[in-house]
Amino acid sequence: MKTTIYYFTGTGNSLQIAEETGRMLGNTEIVAINKLSGTDHVSLSERIGFVFPLYYFGLPGIVERFIQNLDLDNSTYIFSLITCEFGNGKAIRQLDNIMSGKNRNMDSAFYIPMPNNYHSPPFMLPPMPRKQGEIINRAIKKLYKSIQIIQRGEQKKSHESWLFNTILLSERNHNLWKKKLPLIDKRYSFTEACTSCGICTKVCPVDNICFSENRPEWNGNCEMCMACLNLCPEKAIQYMGNNIKRGYLNPNIKLKALMN
Ligand SMILES: Cc1cc2nc3c(=O)[nH]c(=O)nc-3n(C[C@H](O)[C@H](O)[C@H](O)COP(=O)(O)O)c2cc1C
Ligand code: SF4
Ligand code: SF4
Repeated sequence: MKTTIYYFTGTGNSLQIAEETGRMLGNTEIVAINKLSGTDHVSLSERIGFVFPLYYFGLPGIVERFIQNLDLDNSTYIFSLITCEFGNGKAIRQLDNIMSGKNRNMDSAFYIPMPNNYHSPPFMLPPMPRKQGEIINRAIKKLYKSIQIIQRGEQKKSHESWLFNTILLSERNHNLWKKKLPLIDKRYSFTEACTSCGICTKVCPVDNICFSENRPEWNGNCEMCMACLNLCPEKAIQYMGNNIKRGYLNPNIKLKALMN
């Protein structure tokens, strides 16, 4: 059976999960969502997968728009693998809503906890390198179980808590966050440590960083993947005026694979 996996990634976790899934399913085409526009890719596969990170307990904006615009054949089996730190949110409910607007079902969807790449100093940081391996090993075990379900063509989804969905995180909150997104890059700045290497401009999946007088400039079209922040080799990019102590790149993915 042929499979197409559409993925979005900032720091490589979702790319590793997409590649691992492709290897296990066999005969899989792996396509980067950020390199496509709307419906310019028509998949003829019998199975379609979406692999992407959880942002603020829900779907990244770019993923939501992509799935909304994608033409889906009625006979296709559809699955999602959502990489995240904790493994709970409302992304599956959001996916179900998009699918029901298309008269389709998301057949299976699973949270796969991976190392965190979000920075909110001083409280939230990516884990230390020795912890990253442990987290990824656990994730791959969970992935194997999820893939067996996908291979059997079953209907199954990770549980999303009612409390989470209705009280702690309403759709309204998520929408407010999304509204702020494009201009969220106003929170980024750089320090004198910047060597003008240009890596930040190349790893931005939506080409939101350009160079002006040999220095990075953010253009107000951010998806908040935090790739620029995590992957700057000099730790020269600050978030809300705070220096980044530790960047994160998935240890199984080469920086080159994330560059445009
Ligand atoms: C803006 C942002 C928001 C995030 N929100 C959540 C969240 O709500 N829950 C969670 O468990 N992880 C959250 N994370 C962590 C990522 O989902 C996780 O590290 C993911 O595997 C990163 O994938 P990537 O390497 O493919 O970009 C967030 C990360 C970012 C950058
Ligand atoms: S990646 Fe870092 S050092 Fe390189 S240009 Fe961007 S901010 Fe400067
Ligand atoms: S500007 Fe930085 S955080 Fe925003 S989308 Fe580009 S790489 Fe990601």
